[in-house]
Amino acid sequence: MAELHSQIDPYLDLESEILKLKKEKNAIILAHYYQDSEIQDIADFIGDSFELSKKAKDTDAEMIVFCGVKFMAEAALILNPDKKVVIPDMKAGCSLEDSCPPHLFKQFREKYPDHVAVTYINCSAEIKALSDIIVTSSSAEKIIKSIPKDKQIIFAPDKHLGNYLIKKTGRDMVLWNGSCVVHENFSERELIRLKMHHSNASIIAHPECPVSLLEYADFIGSTSALLNYTKEHNGGEFIVLTEPGIIYQMHKVSPDSNFHDVPSLNKSGCATCSECHFMKMNTLEKIYLCMKNSAPEIVLDPQIRDKAKLSLDRMLQGSYV
Ligand code: 13P
Ligand code: SF4
Repeated sequence: MAELHSQIDPYLDLESEILKLKKEKNAIILAHYYQDSEIQDIADFIGDSFELSKKAKDTDAEMIVFCGVKFMAEAALILNPDKKVVIPDMKAGCSLEDSCPPHLFKQFREKYPDHVAVTYINCSAEIKALSDIIVTSSSAEKIIKSIPKDKQIIFAPDKHLGNYLIKKTGRDMVLWNGSCVVHENFSERELIRLKMHHSNASIIAHPECPVSLLEYADFIGSTSALLNYTKEHNGGEFIVLTEPGIIYQMHKVSPDSNFHDVPSLNKSGCATCSECHFMKMNTLEKIYLCMKNSAPEIVLDPQIRDKAKLSLDRMLQGSYV
């Protein structure tokens, strides 16, 4: 961290320097809703995983500055391989990606050779290259329903999203045992307490939450779907079961509503904040430096990249067949 500070003049106006670099480098800044508010404010586009992938594929900019986590920046490069994709912090990973190492996933696939491998976008490029089709939380239901009924399915790496999709689609799927540290650790006790004190509030939840929490939800959807729901119900009160970074945009699109984030439980059983520490590794300082240095840059083995593109292109087509 000391190193990082020594590279930046403390009197710099970071926002205006980033704007200058954006013009100089012909760059676009893409940000996920879980980023800090100051990052959302300098972004050209904010979206859920599906929308960010589409934007990355369609952009004319020469440089994509990806303010999210590494698997998202990798997807941007896979879909638009001629671009330079930089990320503020290469250590911004994901617990779902970590839960699914390629050599074990390969064995899983080999155990079910006739199954279609449907994989959540929250995974490495290697896993995407080993998959038949990629889904996001906003596209998964439609894609799974497009798979012919006589085909069996394996789903990785999020078991909670997998269980939710089994219920929604009626399709049986063999699930990988992975989970998101943020959505799995929301405190049920704190959720109940919030609902007791705000009985008129609607509980809105991301499908990465375990079934035990989703049972309380009035509405379930991807980050963009949750945001749209609050927009459509301006003046409401919401208990938000997803990473709290999104509440910044919820306030903007639904200015007359009230929002409550839900604490998590730490290992000692104490209530704690429910931020994604991977997403929060990105800062304005690191964005400025990655644009100035054009690094760290996402680099992928071309063979893996091209194979992964097949499964991601299928996702963008919105159908398995
Ligand atoms: P979506 O933005 O696609 O809903 O995904 C949420 C998430 O977990 C990002 O890491
Ligand atoms: Fe991964 Fe969960 Fe963080 Fe999303 S919120 S990046 S799924 S750890």
